[in-house]
Amino acid sequence: MLPLLHLKIASFNNTMGKCRKSLIGFPILLHTLCLLLFPQPLLSQENSFVRQPAGQRIITPHERTHSDPQQVHVSLVGKDKMRVSWISEDKKGKSVVEYGRNAGEYSEKAIGESGSYQYFFYSSGKIHNVVIGPLEPGTTYFYRCGGLGPEYSFKTPPPTLPIEFVIVGDLGQTEWTASTLKHVDSSEYDVLLLPGDLSYADTQQPLWDSFGRLVEPYASKRPWMVTEGNHEIESFPIVYPQGFKAYNARWPMPFRESGSTSNLYYSFEVASTHVIMLGSYIDFHPHSQQYSWLQSDIATIDRVRTPWVIALLHAPWYNTNEAHQGEGESMRQAMEHLLYHANVDLVFAGHVHAYERFTRIYDNQADSCGPIYITIGDGGNREGLALKFKNPASPLSLYREASFGHGRLRIVNDTHAYWSWHRNNDNDADVADGAWIESLSNSKACTKAPDQQNSSKEEL
Ligand SMILES: *[C@@H]1O[C@H](CO)[C@@H](O)[C@H](O)[C@H]1NC(C)=O
Ligand SMILES: *[C@@H]1O[C@H](CO)[C@@H](O)[C@H](O)[C@H]1NC(C)=O
Ligand SMILES: [Fe+2]
Repeated sequence: MLPLLHLKIASFNNTMGKCRKSLIGFPILLHTLCLLLFPQPLLSQENSFVRQPAGQRIITPHERTHSDPQQVHVSLVGKDKMRVSWISEDKKGKSVVEYGRNAGEYSEKAIGESGSYQYFFYSSGKIHNVVIGPLEPGTTYFYRCGGLGPEYSFKTPPPTLPIEFVIVGDLGQTEWTASTLKHVDSSEYDVLLLPGDLSYADTQQPLWDSFGRLVEPYASKRPWMVTEGNHEIESFPIVYPQGFKAYNARWPMPFRESGSTSNLYYSFEVASTHVIMLGSYIDFHPHSQQYSWLQSDIATIDRVRTPWVIALLHAPWYNTNEAHQGEGESMRQAMEHLLYHANVDLVFAGHVHAYERFTRIYDNQADSCGPIYITIGDGGNREGLALKFKNPASPLSLYREASFGHGRLRIVNDTHAYWSWHRNNDNDADVADGAWIESLSNSKACTKAPDQQNSSKEEL
């Protein structure tokens, strides 16, 4: 944890100096002071490149009663369970979920737990988490939270392929976010994967609540599986040195089920796919807990059970945009060989507010046994787009564009998947970029024993 702390203190000093890099550790008072001293838009100048105007922030008000559940979202837990998470302003709200297969008829009931957190002068509402199940796959369930309020419904993922993942990073809560979510919702999918940067609350805690209300219509209908980005850190020297207070309280993921000891990295399996969620902002070096967890998680992968293996993380390991150059490099150097030897099919990242698809790569070279790298940090946050790509284009980069949008990975069968990128400006039927992908589990040439692999390197 020490290196992380240094990082934060450095950024704190920087904050005091220039009001820049304010994404890390930034309480309200300082924020206000900074605004008075430097009345330029905060958080928009991580680098000197020029960005297309961002959408206006949308504040989603609380329009229900004090005791009604709000900010409802669901996530997968183990093979056949779902966690239902919500917040009630009323501290007497009960942590109970009633559910069943018919609207208005709740044959089942489960009790969970609740908590809350404090961040400087802000106290959260009562945060409820209830795990329900066992549930049937591919089935619609109707449910109600806390014994009152509106009815919700979700569909559980299919038991076998095909399955469709939506992948979108750096979501935020702007007009562009709303447009992205509308596109996401306009065609069927099973599970949403988010490689970090959710609310862009940046320590202003009520914005976490607003974000929860904005995404509720979507995140209460399909499981949302997330990992953390830099905007989730919200650490502050001495008071909140560990960071991730709001994120861990509001977006608990099933980390224990995969042997992880931290909500900041975990894995899960759904319909023939092993999904590895990594943490870019927690120690990843070879002596770290995350590193040894990843080693043991990889050892559990059975390519007969899950012919597909994908990984998500926030700061991209490969990136030809001028924004955030090199920020994922030390993690790449620490962990790339583990994913490579595990024959991971695809690695998704966010952080850079643009879309970019690479060829299969290992150690900066095209390698037909390496993962395909995709940056999908174009969800719609208030910082706007990262418009400048480096030139000349690297031959490793196959498609790059700074537009808001989302991606879809439709895994058709054990060997084939179709990846598509959907730009917000188009109607959802138009696919701006798309490619068929073959699973590496199907490739005899790529069957590698750990640390004695025989890669088929091609120079480009
Ligand atoms: C898997 O899907 C691909 C693409 O649709 C198809 O070409 C291939 O024949 C399928 N494989 C099997 C075993 O069905
Ligand atoms: C790698 O491939 C070469 C040639 O195909 C072969 O001679 C060698 O034994 C292989 N090495 C390993 C470790 O499999
Ligand atoms: Fe980020």
